[in-house]
Amino acid sequence: MQGFKLTTELFFGSQAINHLEGLTYRNVLIVTDGFLESSGMVAKMAQHLPAGARYQTYSDVKPDPSQELVDAGVAVVERVQPDMVIAFGGGSCIDATKAILYFAHEHGMDKPYFLAIPTTAGTGSEVTNFAVITRGENKVVLIDDFLAPDGALLEADFTKTVPAKITADTGLDVLTHAIEAYVSNAATPFTDALAVKAASIVFEDLPVVYRDGLAMRSRARMIEASCSAGIAFTNAGLGINHSLAHALGGRFHVAHGRLNAILLPYVMRFHMSEPKYREPYDRLAHDLGMADADELLARVIELRECLGVENALSDLPQFEPAAFEAELSGIAEAAQHDRCTPSNPRAVSKQDLVNIARDAYCGRR
Ligand SMILES: NC(=O)c1ccc[n+]([C@@H]2O[C@H](COP(=O)([O-])OP(=O)(O)OC[C@H]3O[C@@H](n4cnc5c(N)ncnc54)[C@H](O)[C@@H]3O)[C@@H](O)[C@H]2O)c1
Ligand SMILES: [Zn+2]
Repeated sequence: MQGFKLTTELFFGSQAINHLEGLTYRNVLIVTDGFLESSGMVAKMAQHLPAGARYQTYSDVKPDPSQELVDAGVAVVERVQPDMVIAFGGGSCIDATKAILYFAHEHGMDKPYFLAIPTTAGTGSEVTNFAVITRGENKVVLIDDFLAPDGALLEADFTKTVPAKITADTGLDVLTHAIEAYVSNAATPFTDALAVKAASIVFEDLPVVYRDGLAMRSRARMIEASCSAGIAFTNAGLGINHSLAHALGGRFHVAHGRLNAILLPYVMRFHMSEPKYREPYDRLAHDLGMADADELLARVIELRECLGVENALSDLPQFEPAAFEAELSGIAEAAQHDRCTPSNPRAVSKQDLVNIARDAYCGRR
């Protein structure tokens, strides 16, 4: 038997932010990062809270949130005892909030109403039951229905300040979610429909918002694509592209979306080298109006280039050759045990993962 679940209620479209005004919660904790607070975006969002509501912020979230900042957030939420928590930010803020509420619940606290407001069009974390937390050099994936927000408010206006480079990284994360969900061994016709829609928007609108961050129609389409891809993968799972990105990200501290984007063609080639695993890529290509999997691969590479993404990991300054070789075995092992690997369409050995990571490092085709 298969299933499809969306526990999060969505609020989107023109003036979605006005939804906040009708809420009845009065003691609000906003979890965010230092940039979003100091730039005035948090205050701008909070203006829409209902009259009489007071709010406090926990703004210590950093990219790839650590267990330590989550633990500090647990202490804050236990002190504030909010009736609503708003995660305001990119995937890092939303994931940190998920983990804070998860561990506070383990300590006995009831879960307050949880609203996620994404400010990047990327992770889809506002609708997923996934959270990624960094413990030492490992990015640990938590998967639990408890993590899914109660509500997700999609307001494209909050994404218009995202710089071009982060727009590219986060937008290519959407594409990776869509492709991995589509080829996953747990994909269904329902997740396929969402993945195709998300991928087609990325091909059309991501170059537009990369060139012009104020192209609001495309910004709105990208935040919807991000959410659609999130709904697809929370139901269908992801694959080894994400497993390797987690293992590399914990060790080399490169943005999650950029790592996914660099890895994507190498992971696609690994799958497409066997007819059985090439088949879903052919189907996805047809659904996107392309001839076959080869054209899809060429379009992915072309999109990466047009967004200024490096072709190989060795093109990034963080990837010093000796350090990469020293870490390679640990990277492959971490990726093999990552919680995204079981839904990968093709079974992988540690050696397969070493080979893919090395190809991606060298830029070998
Ligand atoms: N839970 C999930 O389902 C899921 C899925 C994929 C990735 N992730 C995780 O999410 C994290 C990545 O999230 P992300 O890609 O959204 O990036 P991020 O949240 O780490 O943010 C990246 C940078 O963008 C800045 N930023 C955010 N919004 C902005 C705005 N509106 N204007 C200007 N700057 C802005 C942030 O301050 C930060 O410096 C990683 O830890 C990744 O592992 C989670
Ligand atoms: Zn991702």
